[in-house]
Amino acid sequence: MVKGSSGLPLPAIQLEASSYVPLYRQLYEELRKGILTGRLPPGMRLPSTRDMARGLSLARNTVMNAYDQLLAEGYVEGHVGSGTYVTRSLPDDLLYTRENSHRVLQLSQKGRSFSRRGAVLTSTPVNASPNPSNIRPFWPGIPALDAFPSKVWSRLVSRYWENPCAKLLGYGDSAGYPQLREAISIYLGAARAVRCTPDQVIITSGRQQAFDLVMRVLLDPGDAAWIEDPGYMGVRAALISAGGRPVPVPMDKEGLDVRAGETLYQDARLAYVSPSHQYPLGVTMSLARRLALLEWANRSGAWIIEDDYDSEYRYTGRPLSALQGLDDQGRVIYLGTFSKVLFPALRLGYLVVPPDRVASFVNARAVLSRFSPSIDQAVLADFINEGHFSRHVRRMRDLYNKRQKTLIQALNSELHDLIEVQPDEAGLHLVGWLPEYFDDVVASSSAAAQGVDAQPLSAFSINRMGRGGLVLGYAGYDKHQVWEGARRLASALRHLTVAKKFQSNTANVAGGTYV
Ligand SMILES: Cc1ncc(COP(=O)(O)O)c(C=O)c1O
Repeated sequence: MVKGSSGLPLPAIQLEASSYVPLYRQLYEELRKGILTGRLPPGMRLPSTRDMARGLSLARNTVMNAYDQLLAEGYVEGHVGSGTYVTRSLPDDLLYTRENSHRVLQLSQKGRSFSRRGAVLTSTPVNASPNPSNIRPFWPGIPALDAFPSKVWSRLVSRYWENPCAKLLGYGDSAGYPQLREAISIYLGAARAVRCTPDQVIITSGRQQAFDLVMRVLLDPGDAAWIEDPGYMGVRAALISAGGRPVPVPMDKEGLDVRAGETLYQDARLAYVSPSHQYPLGVTMSLARRLALLEWANRSGAWIIEDDYDSEYRYTGRPLSALQGLDDQGRVIYLGTFSKVLFPALRLGYLVVPPDRVASFVNARAVLSRFSPSIDQAVLADFINEGHFSRHVRRMRDLYNKRQKTLIQALNSELHDLIEVQPDEAGLHLVGWLPEYFDDVVASSSAAAQGVDAQPLSAFSINRMGRGGLVLGYAGYDKHQVWEGARRLASALRHLTVAKKFQSNTANVAGGTYV
């Protein structure tokens, strides 16, 4: 216990030397608590910084920092040399803090409800994100983060920060940074046969924001919209949150079944498709289907949302050009992202909209969140224009192709009787098909218990598919991780088969049949 120079004993002060909270901050908290609870009454003189430091075996600076903080916040008053006193008139808001710190909130329900729109937005399920500090095989959609050319990126970043220009630190253009829009339009024209000028490219904070924007702009509450089934949950969530009604359209080997869509809901307002590499089945939409979809949209006056998912990663064969390039009537809105091709935390994606709708979409984008960070956009523009982007894509294409082969090898070696897997010409994941008698949700949770993330295919489906499967991402995992993951997955699934056999044997015994 420290004795104040006023003669009053200070309550015991507990400081933890090993804590991550700095000592001055701990001392400040202790004294503040004493003042607020009245243990250090108004007008009380605190010990001098020297006495306090000596009494608590602290550096004098530590005590001075704590006192300065209390002084700045009005808990104590005084001047150097004349002593430090607990303030006589605690400001009301400090007293309020004192009252509140001991009060249990009585949360009332009266008038604190959400709007109907808010209720939908806050309860619509969206695909889960992996635990960022423990991304495990085979969580899909994770690129090889360790292979990202971070030195090049950091050089480009520092170029801007060493000499920051006001244009990039102030408010930016809601349509996006002009050089980036131009770089994207050149890339899309050359690599994806997308027909667009830089003006038609609008930068968003990732593709999820683009979904949100498009659905809000195009749908009225209750409007029907075709979505792929199974399909990407993020788009379904954006659609439902905008008040739309999802119409799940089945997939087959050629992609979304347009005829089935017409039978289910001929007059849908829009159709969402991921034609270059459907998520999660990995199907590439045939040319005949693309033309049928455009023909339906033209006939019924509907929009098409083209998510050009995974288009950068095609390992064999020539990629089919984007659907947008076949559209003559301005019905296709094209979406892309840098999340998979660079890294998800960059949160940069884009929309390509028909020329006569650009100004409206830019306005809507401004309402949502003004604009995406300008320096990130400028760095990305340089990254593309200086050739680093295409170099990175080429390197990753080779790496992911190898990683896909490793996954197939590992699954065939460890799980040949439990998982059927086919090579895919494109993408960052494969679907491992399970035997008919397996429930993929049970298989997935058993895998999770063994330290493997293998999402069940049924989680992506609205109408249950005949056969279950597991979505297995491979791009972000090295050889060792893939083999270890396959071994763990094998052990998880074998446990289930043993349990299954045991169950059916006991059922047979109970029923009186012996096998
Ligand atoms: C098919 C599909 N579209 C869009 C996204 C989301 O992209 P972004 O990270 O740009 O929001 C994902 C992410 O996994 C995806 O799988």
